[in-house]
Amino acid sequence: MLNLVIGTQWGDEGKGKVVDFYSERADFVARFQGGANAGHTVVVGKKKYKFHQLPSGAVRGKKVVIGNGCVVDPEILLEEISKLRREGISFELFISDRAHLILPYHKIQDKLEESLKGKVKAGTTMRGIGPCYQDKIGRFGVRFCDLVDEEVLREKLEILVPLKQRILSALGEEILLDLDEIFESYNEYGKVLRGHITDTSLLINKALDEGKKVLLEGAQGTHLDIDHGIYPFNTSSSTTAGGACIGVGVSPKRVSEIVGVLKAYTTRVGEGPMPTELSNELGDYLREKGGEYGTTTGRPRRCGWLDMVLLRYSERINRFTGLAITKLDVLSGLKKLKVCVSYSYKGKEMRDFPAGMKILSECEAVYKEFKGFKDFKAGKYDDLPREAKIYLRFISEELKVPIYLVSI
Ligand code: IMP
Repeated sequence: MLNLVIGTQWGDEGKGKVVDFYSERADFVARFQGGANAGHTVVVGKKKYKFHQLPSGAVRGKKVVIGNGCVVDPEILLEEISKLRREGISFELFISDRAHLILPYHKIQDKLEESLKGKVKAGTTMRGIGPCYQDKIGRFGVRFCDLVDEEVLREKLEILVPLKQRILSALGEEILLDLDEIFESYNEYGKVLRGHITDTSLLINKALDEGKKVLLEGAQGTHLDIDHGIYPFNTSSSTTAGGACIGVGVSPKRVSEIVGVLKAYTTRVGEGPMPTELSNELGDYLREKGGEYGTTTGRPRRCGWLDMVLLRYSERINRFTGLAITKLDVLSGLKKLKVCVSYSYKGKEMRDFPAGMKILSECEAVYKEFKGFKDFKAGKYDDLPREAKIYLRFISEELKVPIYLVSI
């Protein structure tokens, strides 16, 4: 059985917790895109685990997979592995031999490009994600299958390092890349990680053939997708259900469930227009109550009301079989709640999310108001305050998707 967990908004929806919940029943938990730009937080008892590179399923000691669609910073990966081992958590790790490696020059390039992009900078996590995916598409990336062969690795770096040096110099960077140093450190990573590198598509397909349960864990969210996100303020990978199949090498025919993780309000970290942003005390209130600070960069997240225009687009692209609605309790105690049902653009109603950023920045949110609800405790759905159920039902009916779970 193959199930997907996908972010419906701009990332930070609480996927780590939802994945942790579902992974209890899974044999394999796999990531299919992104790299150390992700920040998944899983709290077990009093312990808080933050992941950037490893799938969240590692906490439960599952077989975890880093799929071919991922870009991997081996230094961060090794740090996370040893941190968990020190905590006494053991898990089996499989890394796709087709996954791409983040190299030191990617991180330098990320910073340089951001500093030169002016108004079109995305506000990246500076983890080298964009430049690594650029190299993948440009067909001069380094993959894990290269890492395990000293000769191939050296040969590739001998071509790539001078090429990258020219690019960095042209961008105004004066640091000299040291070919030997890069080769030696990456060759060493290769030796340490060798036993984990394999054809993970084969592994996952075989597991599915044997009736095992595989959970694919999305990072970021639909509106950060390279094709469907708010270009150019999005990330560089495919964060959607379609991207999940490509990112681990499985057929879409194998997918059973597509769970969309939806935060009860909207947050965004990084640049770009956000029609429901609350740049006022209410926005600050949501940020503080919801702990809305980036797991990777610590940046304060921009907060706002729920946006159904954004979510309808997500639903169209992913076709969720169910929703996991998170952080509902953050909204409790407010007298009134608002949900954006459409945009007003030049006096006309707009129900579908536009492609152009100029248009989006001129869109005004049109709201439907809801009565607020009182504080409540974790328990059964039936015990939720009536007004909270009305709020949830509205989301579910608007998207025509059932709610699988509500998280607080
Ligand atoms: P990059 O992925 O580091 O290149 O960043 C590109 C854009 O995606 C920036 O606006 C980031 O703030 C955003 N982004 C990347 N990863 C995450 C995430 O895990 N949560 C929320 N935003 C993210």
